[in-house]
This record gives sequence, structure tokens and C-alpha cells, in this order.
Amino acid sequence: MEKRDKIKIGLIGLGTVGSGVFKTLQSFENVEVTKIAVRNINKPRNIDGLDNSIVTDNPYEVVNDSEIDIVAELIGGVEPAYDLIKTAIKNGKHIVTANKELLAKHGEELFNFAEEHNKVILYEAAIAGGIPIIMPIKTILAGNKINKIEAILNGTTNYILTKMDVQGASYETVLKEAQELGYAEADPTGDVEGFDAAYKITTLATITFGKRIKLENVYREGITKIRAQDMDAANDLGYKIKLIASAQLNENGQADVRVHPMLVSKKATLAHIDYVTNAVSLTGHPVGSVTLSGPGAGEFPTASSVVGDILAIAAELGKSDYILPMMRCKHDDNAEMINISDTTNKYYISITAKNNKGVIGKIGTICANNDISLESIVQRCVSQDNTADITVITEQVKEKNMQNAIKQIELDGNKVNSLIRVQV
Ligand code: HSE
Repeated sequence: MEKRDKIKIGLIGLGTVGSGVFKTLQSFENVEVTKIAVRNINKPRNIDGLDNSIVTDNPYEVVNDSEIDIVAELIGGVEPAYDLIKTAIKNGKHIVTANKELLAKHGEELFNFAEEHNKVILYEAAIAGGIPIIMPIKTILAGNKINKIEAILNGTTNYILTKMDVQGASYETVLKEAQELGYAEADPTGDVEGFDAAYKITTLATITFGKRIKLENVYREGITKIRAQDMDAANDLGYKIKLIASAQLNENGQADVRVHPMLVSKKATLAHIDYVTNAVSLTGHPVGSVTLSGPGAGEFPTASSVVGDILAIAAELGKSDYILPMMRCKHDDNAEMINISDTTNKYYISITAKNNKGVIGKIGTICANNDISLESIVQRCVSQDNTADITVITEQVKEKNMQNAIKQIELDGNKVNSLIRVQV
């Protein structure tokens, strides 16, 4: 085994995360950034210590550079990141990436490809930004059978939901404010429709359960239909509404992985994770329950995870022919998945009904006919147009039955405003 001097790092991307990584790496003696690929080479960059001669607008100059040991891919998206990573691996480089979409869509082939070439791909920054979660799961929690994850993995949506709660404002109003402040993107679809959280929970559940989860089998619902009235009603009932990414393994080893809004009890830790903060709760044996929370995005929090991964690889190079064995992906089996329609959940339902005698009785009867038991049913107010707002909380019931009941409640002349699952 050869003894290494400075480990050479190539960066692909010098945006928010890339800049944070470059600045943070400056203070480490054992590593040196020797090439950086950017999209626009003419963009002025005010970064101390940046030597423009190492900057290129051709990312293949980074992955084909024979001197570079570790490539950090910080551009996101599937292409060209996918091809760049494969080329880098073929050329003998280890990889650090913050790319949640790429891992969720192509993780299996990339990890297999890396293993065939005896290279590692580390991705602490791809899930929950600055929160250390991948390395803890792979190492110090390795002795556990973790069968449940509940997490807030998207800062944009958590910011919007927190603001709606605090201000009593509508989704549209808060989204606009968040866009003006730069907390939400001009096209917020990836965040508000739950895609970002779905990418993250796909990889998180895969490594936690040791079985591959396919992104297409992850149920996903965003936050765009949440109303200020739902926030209010949830508060009255002792809950907060959060976009929860969850994954659960049942006793038969089947996985239920999803992202959707959820009423979370105010007694639960996740109800108090506000604004852009992320959190991950893991439940298993022997540890019990552990929650890690912290910044899920941002220049330096994300750089913290990327640099940690770079230093973990750098520390091993030249010392072993098979580095970081615990961090590698070793499972081949696909998880058997449970379809959302076969799950059992507790629900919050908001209904606007005509204020006629017996309307609550009829809703109760439809629920009973669908084997749905109710925990509470409350008429919150009667409007000037003689409609009543009715809020229902069910006990744990089958999703299929709930969807049937919703159709029948609507066929009976009522408007179902919201159907939101409730944490149990
Ligand atoms: N767009 C993500 C969020 C951050 O809002 O949390 C990067 O994963």
C-alpha cells in the first residue's frame, strides 16, 4: 500500500454547497482542491483563496484528471451527474455526492458499479443536509433492527407549514412570501409536491432496512391543499400539521414508505421542529427511539456533511485496499412493499355539509357502513349560507374503506375539503 501525501479533491459545482465545501476544506492540511468545474466560468466569485486557474467549465476535466483521488459532485439532478460519477469511478476516484434525486433513481446501479471498481460513494449531505444520519445508521446504530422512520426532510415545506400555523395565513400567501425571501424556489414543485422528501426517504429507508426501496413505490402527497382552516382545526385538536416522510417495516418484513402531510401530536418531538429545520426519528431495538434534528440545507450545514465524507475517505486512502467497509452498500434484495390502499391509518376529515337535521348522523352511518369507527365528530361553525363545517377524527381504519366513505359522503351532497392522515 502506498503512503499518500495531500489527497487531491475535485469539485463539480461551486454554487451554494460547492462554495461552502471549498471554504471549509481550506483549513485542512491533508486535502487539497485541485480542480473545480462550474457552469459559468465568467461568473464573478468572491471566494477567498480561490485560484481561478483550477476552475473549468468542463466537468470531464475533473473526472478524467488522473491526479484526483476524490470527486465531490455538487450539481444535483440526474444528468450529467450520473455520467460524471460513473466516469469518475471508472477512472479510479471515490465519490462524495449531495444528490438525493440521483441516488433515489439510480442508487442501485451506481453503488453496484462503485463496488465492482472497489470505490465508495458517500452521501451524508444528500439526506437532511447537515444532520449526521447516514454514517450513524451505517456504523454506531448497526446493531439495531430499526423498523420505523418518521422524518421532516424538507425545509421549504416545513417553513411554509410553520408560517401558515403562526400567521393563520393561506398556503398561497405564505408560498409567495417564502419565494420573495428566497426560502422557496420560483418553481417550488419539487419541494411542495413532496418529490424532494420522497427522494430522501427512498435512500434513507433503503439503508435503514437493508432492503432496496424503489422510488416508484413510495406514496407521495404534497402540501398544496392544506388550508389555514385545517391548521386551526388541528391546533384545537392538539396537533400540528407537518409534511412527514415515513417508512415502516411490518412483522412480515413488508415496507410502507410514504411522504404526505400528517397531523402530529403536539406531545411528539416532530411537532416542534419548525421553519427550515429537519429531523429524523428512528425507532428500533435495542436503541428504542432516537431523534436527530438540525439544519437540512444551506451552505455551511451541507458543507459539514460533504467535508465529513471527504475526510472519512481521505483518512483511509493508502492505509487499506478496501476502505470504509461499513459505509458500503451490501444489499441486493428489493423490499416487498405495501400499497397505500392496503394500509391502516387514522384520519382527520374536514367536511362542509348543508346544515340539515341528521347530517352528522348520515356521515356517521356512511362511516359505519365502511367499517370506520369515529373517535370524534364536531360541528365547528354554521356559515351564512347555512352550511356547517364538520371535523371528523377516525380511529385506525383501512385506507381503502376511508376512500370509499369519502366518495359516498360527497355523493350525499357534502364537500370534503381535506383528508389528512393522523400520526398514531
Ligand atoms: N430543497 C430542500 C429543502 C433542500 O427545502 O429542504 C435541499 O435538499
